[in-house]
Amino acid sequence: MTDTVADVTPEIAPSSYDAAQRRSDAIWRKIESDPSGLRMLTGDRPTGALHIGHYFGSLRNRVRLQQAGVETWVIVADYQVITDREILGDIRGSVRELLTDYLAVGIDPERATIFTHSAVPALNQLMLPFLSLVTQPELERNPTVKAELAAAGKSAMGGLLLTYPVHQAADILFCHGNVVPVGKDQLPHIEQTRVIARRFNERYADGEQVFTEPDALLSDAPTILGLDGAAKMSKSLGNTVMLRMSPDETLKKIKKAKTDSERRITYDPEGRPEVANLLTIASEATGRTPEEIASEVGDAGSGTLKMLTAEALNEHLAPIRARRAEIEQDPEYLFGVLRAGNERANEVAEQTLARVREVMGMVY
Ligand code: TRP
Repeated sequence: MTDTVADVTPEIAPSSYDAAQRRSDAIWRKIESDPSGLRMLTGDRPTGALHIGHYFGSLRNRVRLQQAGVETWVIVADYQVITDREILGDIRGSVRELLTDYLAVGIDPERATIFTHSAVPALNQLMLPFLSLVTQPELERNPTVKAELAAAGKSAMGGLLLTYPVHQAADILFCHGNVVPVGKDQLPHIEQTRVIARRFNERYADGEQVFTEPDALLSDAPTILGLDGAAKMSKSLGNTVMLRMSPDETLKKIKKAKTDSERRITYDPEGRPEVANLLTIASEATGRTPEEIASEVGDAGSGTLKMLTAEALNEHLAPIRARRAEIEQDPEYLFGVLRAGNERANEVAEQTLARVREVMGMVY
């Protein structure tokens, strides 16, 4: 969940997108009937606290999957922070904010394993054999990496930016994650992960299924636009409502949101994106449809819509914010959760690496 990922949705070949969508649909059906055997691995770049775009767009979905009985692994991708920026900043602070938001929204440390790249050496080591399985043109073609390079405003590609999709494959494959809930921009990385799993099994394991090809799980969660009308919320643009804001700050932010000059409120995402965005936020917070809310507000205009949206949001976020405030008081607990997750991730990563050494004949 970075603020620097390009706003442009990278182009993905329609055929591979359709295939990914079909596999994703099949997994949704399996989650509803029998989630056993499903292991979700997903995560975020720790760049600070989260906003409602993160929450409605992905976190809430993860919590639902966890509640449905899907085994949950969440990576705090600290090495990915330095793929497209030179400065780590206060990484410990960023990790703390991210963890606080995770626990506040309902990721349950009793059930989920939350861990960081940098604390799991065996995961990182998998990158070496995996790098041998990909080619330079493959890496250079990755549309998300290209978009990130462009967004970073640099001409020279860094070595980690070019190869982090392979590192991300290690994130997924070390724990045999088979379900990866992600947005469309991450599909090229999942595709690359599938290729790596397949090639590893063929080239180094005589066709034995050491690694399983994971599937992306696509959701119909909405993209929340920035309150200024930008293509997405981004902390650096100041166009967000952060989960950690007070109800008052939330109201102020929403009041300042861009709308248009038409008084009557209608739900028209194409023609009136800013008004539609407020309706989407209100809809996500209440569970009512945006159309319903639009016709209720009607001629009362955008001022009324903003009040309604802010109230709905504050009400929905109240328990999350209360939990957040509690957790903030106890950093010991927070980092204890991470240490326990790292310990578990290390156990599993070491087992996987041992298996990899064995099939590669590197046991001395
Ligand atoms: N690249 C993801 C993002 O920018 C974060 C991430 C790191 C991730 N490792 C992952 C997502 C493994 C899914 C699976 O949001």
